[in-house]
Amino acid sequence: MSRVSRSQPPGRSGAAAGGTPAAGAPVVSLHSVRKAYRAGGSAERVALGEVTFDVGRGEFVCVVGPSGAGKTTLLRCMAGLAAPTSGEARFEGAPLRRVPDQVGVVFQDYSRSLYPWLTVSRNVALPLKVRGVDRAARAARIEEVLRSVSLADVGRQYPWQLSGGMQQRVAIARALACHPELLLMDEPFASVDAQTRFELEDLILALREEFSVTVVFVTHDIDEAIYLADRIVVLSASPGTVTEIVDVALPRPRDQITSKGDERFARHREHIMSLVMSRSAAARAARRD
Ligand SMILES: Nc1ncnc2c1ncn2[C@@H]1O[C@H](COP(=O)(O)OP(=O)(O)OP(=O)(O)O)[C@@H](O)[C@H]1O
Ligand SMILES: [Mg+2]
Repeated sequence: MSRVSRSQPPGRSGAAAGGTPAAGAPVVSLHSVRKAYRAGGSAERVALGEVTFDVGRGEFVCVVGPSGAGKTTLLRCMAGLAAPTSGEARFEGAPLRRVPDQVGVVFQDYSRSLYPWLTVSRNVALPLKVRGVDRAARAARIEEVLRSVSLADVGRQYPWQLSGGMQQRVAIARALACHPELLLMDEPFASVDAQTRFELEDLILALREEFSVTVVFVTHDIDEAIYLADRIVVLSASPGTVTEIVDVALPRPRDQITSKGDERFARHREHIMSLVMSRSAAARAARRD
């Protein structure tokens, strides 16, 4: 099992320090989850080392780590999209065998995740149809979630008629349409410009409150992780194991200027960067030997 050290207790509500939720079972829990791939008869390649942590109800957990560490693999195991090679992933206490109805997923590449031949409304309707929601309830839900992402007027347009940031808001609306307990996001803002990215960060914080949803959010951007998260899971270089779980000691509500100017923000950045960079350097050195 990976060694997990934890930093200062968090200044947050909703979950207790150290990865143990304040009340009830965790929404999602990983126990020694390891994932290896075998491509075309070649030797097994370990994508993710043994990873263990829980996500409590209402928490916002970010996952950071070097490229190839296994962040997407980790998220796929949490979604029930990939089965661990060993260990176990549980959702609300039950082993994950498929994507639960109460889980929404947002990927980085909105241009591939939205169907270009369907209007925005029909894209958002898809997961509701799959779950057998009737037409009237679907229409109400589509209106609700599009309004929540400030896209009330674009339902009849096609994704390709919208900007990148708007398309990613459609993808978020679609993931929220079923009122999920858990929202899993894989570098969702990596393809948009910096200004749009800040707006989407604030949007996701507002949506988290509005929909009372638990969020696990993968990002390369350490500032983004600190700004958004209650806790940050720092993964080592490939194959990823948990280097440290950092409790973010920043008050909420957060604000792009005040929170990022807070001296605690700078301390978190320095600490997490040193974790990521030193582990990457150690992995490069090990590969050279
Ligand atoms: N379906 C697959 N088949 C074989 N190998 C895979 C598969 N998916 C991922 N891998 C390998 O597993 C490792 C981890 O990949 P993963 O995409 O999880 O990393 P990541 O941390 O998300 O990387 P990035 O930051 O670049 O998105 C990589 O070496 C990758 O090549
Ligand atoms: Mg990835």
